[in-house]
Amino acid sequence: MVSKSAFARAVGMAMLAMSSLAFAASLTQVSNWGNTDNGVSMYIYVPDRVATKPPVIVAIHPCGGSAQQYFSLTRLPSYADSLGFILIYPQTTKDQNCWDCYSSATNTHNGGSDSKAIATMVSYTLSKYNGDASKVFSVGSSSGAMMTPILMAAYPDVFAGGAGFSGVPAGCFENATSSTPSNPDQSCARAQKGFTAQQWGDIARAEYPGYTGQYPKMQIWEGTADTLVLIGNLQAQLDQWSNVMGLSFSHNETNTPQSGYTKIVYGDGTRLVGYSAAGVGHFVPFHENDVLSFFNLLGGGTSTSSSTQPSGPTSTTGGGGGPSCTAAHWAECGGIGYGGCTVCASPYSCQVSNAYYSQCL
Ligand SMILES: *[C@@H]1O[C@H](CO)[C@@H](O)[C@H](O)[C@H]1NC(C)=O
Ligand SMILES: *[C@@H]1O[C@H](CO)[C@@H](O)[C@H](O)[C@H]1NC(C)=O
Repeated sequence: MVSKSAFARAVGMAMLAMSSLAFAASLTQVSNWGNTDNGVSMYIYVPDRVATKPPVIVAIHPCGGSAQQYFSLTRLPSYADSLGFILIYPQTTKDQNCWDCYSSATNTHNGGSDSKAIATMVSYTLSKYNGDASKVFSVGSSSGAMMTPILMAAYPDVFAGGAGFSGVPAGCFENATSSTPSNPDQSCARAQKGFTAQQWGDIARAEYPGYTGQYPKMQIWEGTADTLVLIGNLQAQLDQWSNVMGLSFSHNETNTPQSGYTKIVYGDGTRLVGYSAAGVGHFVPFHENDVLSFFNLLGGGTSTSSSTQPSGPTSTTGGGGGPSCTAAHWAECGGIGYGGCTVCASPYSCQVSNAYYSQCL
């Protein structure tokens, strides 16, 4: 039996949840960011509460994707809500919405094309939002994970780190006529280059001749059952970046961060790691916690692993303590600053409205 006042309270809370949704930040197109290339556009997600000197993460969509699609595909926006970093979502509509990973322009520092366009988006964002130039990162899936290593090689002065899900080494497509799945030269995606670590390292270094600074950290994820971008691209990338960074293989950690995944650690694991995902195809689910922890953006403490399946993200944002009591239907059950019960009475589950408010629905 629900009392009238309890019902009024429930409606009030539902409306509060809806109004906070309505006022929450959203993905927005930026028009005058300084681009000269009409095929590439810029979208940005600036959370309602931006950190002082916010870190900036570029999140790059796969072939056939879009800024909006990739925005919806991972839980990075909800992490941005709680951690205050800014997300840039570049979008290309050329070549079946695949990024240019093959031209010599894109594979050259300040050479032009898509890598230069993305570096320009970063400069625009750093200056407009007073961002932290020492905390600029790139992440991507598939074609976005082919562009990410190029950004690390051609703009190591801009980026502090990258994470790629199901991509290839920097420069891998340099002799191809496109970097789409229908490109006739599939020797890169099929991991048939046969280069040594030294050769891969030389290809990366050639993207910015004369650069003597530190290279960005890299985290590389590949699935063993991928038939489009073959698993050999994991070792090829580890060879490339271990050579560039001067790091050696240290050890493997099996079933990390989840069953069936092997974490491959180079050096002390803070600058280069790979993940081989057994039985996983194209492309590996995005692992937000592991990526943000590798980038040192989670603010210390231990992190638990979680991932987003390509088929549809679910959201969980931690609330305060309180797993020992239950919250009723419609009641608040989580969000930043919340300290009450976090478990919902059966059959309801705690669903995130935004980073600051979760409700038993
Ligand atoms: C591209 O071709 C040049 C010249 O044959 C060769 O040296 C280079 O290794 C090739 N790069 C790739 C990624 O295949
Ligand atoms: C580490 O794990 C990878 C991926 O499973 C495997 O290919 C490699 O042989 C392992 N290395 C060692 C030394 O166990």
